Amino acid sequence: MKTQITLAISKGRILKDTIPLLKKMGMAPVEDLAHTRKLLIDTENPQVRVVVVRATDVPTYVEYGAADLGIAGKDVLMESRGDGLYELLDLGICKCKLMVAGRNMPSSHGQRLKVATKYVNAAQQYFAQQGKQVEIIKLYGSMELAPITGLADLIVDLVDTGNTLRANGLEPLEHIEDISSRLVANKASLKVSFDTLQNVVEKFKAAIAN
Ligand code: ATP
Ligand code: PRP
Repeated sequence: MKTQITLAISKGRILKDTIPLLKKMGMAPVEDLAHTRKLLIDTENPQVRVVVVRATDVPTYVEYGAADLGIAGKDVLMESRGDGLYELLDLGICKCKLMVAGRNMPSSHGQRLKVATKYVNAAQQYFAQQGKQVEIIKLYGSMELAPITGLADLIVDLVDTGNTLRANGLEPLEHIEDISSRLVANKASLKVSFDTLQNVVEKFKAAIAN
């Protein structure tokens, strides 16, 4: 049985919202993550260390077993292959919605609508379920620009307050999925380090409950 486990956390807003939970759990990183350049960091709990990686890299670290646990948005998990991953817990942080947005819902007149998004899999699946044929255009950010510049008819993106859509003359049109951050585990680690992981999961449950 391994004595130390590794938790991969998305940098950015998920890390910001996870730190208070880790503090409650007695698992706070021993270095100030806002200032350190280190990416592999010990925590107050000698059984747990954290790695801070880009959101889209969290499932990869966990799938390959380089991290035993990971914290990532449901949006990112929906786009990953999910092989060897097990979703343990909804942490209820970084809540938002994955939505179709645009100036309005255009009538397709038999033409394939163009949809710009970084959520290619989720968008493809959603429109297929609707029986709509669309052309997906992969973008890596600033999706809201696509309908304004004529690159696409619609976007699929995250919406929280709706401020970004409004500021760009767009509106939310269709709801695809409620999004929040999830605790995921490597399936093999669950067997090899069951007691340690179980202990960490129980601590997360207690931290989000109060
Ligand atoms: P990267 O910079 O690595 O490309 P990113 O810009 O998607 O990643 P963040 O903006 O920190 O990184 O978002 C990380 C996660 O936070 C997303 O995957 C999603 O689950 C959640 N999230 C994104 N935007 C919002 C939002 N406006 N409100 C609440 N949660 C959000
Ligand atoms: C996210 C998302 C939207 C915005 C939605 O972007 O891609 O643009 O938040 O939030 P709102 O409805 O409250 O305006 P983010 O701020 O993470 O910027 P980024 O994708 O460029 O990192």
